[in-house]
Amino acid sequence: MDQLDEAVRLLAAGALVAFPTETVYGLGADATDDRAVARLFEAKGRPRFNPLITHYASTEATATQVHFSPLAESLAAAFWPGPLTLVLPRRAESRVSLLCSAGLDSLGVRVPRHPLALALLRRFGRPLAGPSANPSGRLSPTTAEAVREGLGERVALVLDGGPCPVGLESTVLDLTGERPALLRPGAVTREAIERVTGPLAEAQAGPLKSPGQLASHYAPGLPLRLQAKSVGEREALLAFGKDAPAGAALSLNLSPLGDLVEAAANLFAYLRRLDRPGLDAIAIVPIPEEGLGEAINDRLRRAAAPRG
Ligand code: TXA
Ligand code: MG
Repeated sequence: MDQLDEAVRLLAAGALVAFPTETVYGLGADATDDRAVARLFEAKGRPRFNPLITHYASTEATATQVHFSPLAESLAAAFWPGPLTLVLPRRAESRVSLLCSAGLDSLGVRVPRHPLALALLRRFGRPLAGPSANPSGRLSPTTAEAVREGLGERVALVLDGGPCPVGLESTVLDLTGERPALLRPGAVTREAIERVTGPLAEAQAGPLKSPGQLASHYAPGLPLRLQAKSVGEREALLAFGKDAPAGAALSLNLSPLGDLVEAAANLFAYLRRLDRPGLDAIAIVPIPEEGLGEAINDRLRRAAAPRG
């Protein structure tokens, strides 16, 4: 079996496969598989759920998941395949895991131009979530060797395409606001983009916009009650592990077996399902502050924070 077939088989089984792009190596997971995407966060040791870039074989494939404006079409025509990531509004019918959007209504998409990345995406036939293939807080890897050094056993297979030609991450451009905003400078220069878009707006406070903004986008309509030991009959319950309190109007269990990877994969989707009008609150049982639990609790605290 050749390496690409092996990569496709592993991805379809929910495993993580590192792949070369023209910018840096990406840590790939089936973007439509919640559990596989949750494993990405775990493998990288990310302190919280930042949104992830999703990769596609063609512009047409991205357009099935996000809404394109005329400006987005011009940018795609000018720079894809290539190192530009566009942040666009998610389609309601998108099958990409909500974890890739980290609770925002947008999705970061790009079509890479590395031949091995394109061959993998074509053969797999689904989008790949692909953060840089390094442990959180470390430099992005530009060789297969660097990926193995950083992630070791946490990656099932590293497709070796030699050193990345660009070696610097893609430029991230937010097209969800009134004017396009540069969220992360990268391999496509501001000047090249401004030739298509005209002057760019400055991004507000860093690559994620502000954490406060992220929280308010993400927060459900109902208030959240954290560390709940019991539940009222006018509350929805988000449980974890066995021994869930009884008596809720509606309840879902993130992981009856207490598996934090499963819990992370279910988190955003379950909060949405519990967010029903007419109830008083969503009560959430304590989640252990270990492994992915730290990221889960970080997102829950942001969502429960007083709203401005
Ligand atoms: O070159 C690259 O972009 C590499 C290769 C593998 O494609 N990938 C990469 O991914 O650098 P990552 O996850 O390490 O960086 C993603 C960046 C972050 O700064 C994130 O905040 C931003 O893109 N981003 C992704 N989706 C977003 C969204 N919906 N809204 C705002 N920012 C987003
Ligand atoms: Mg990175």
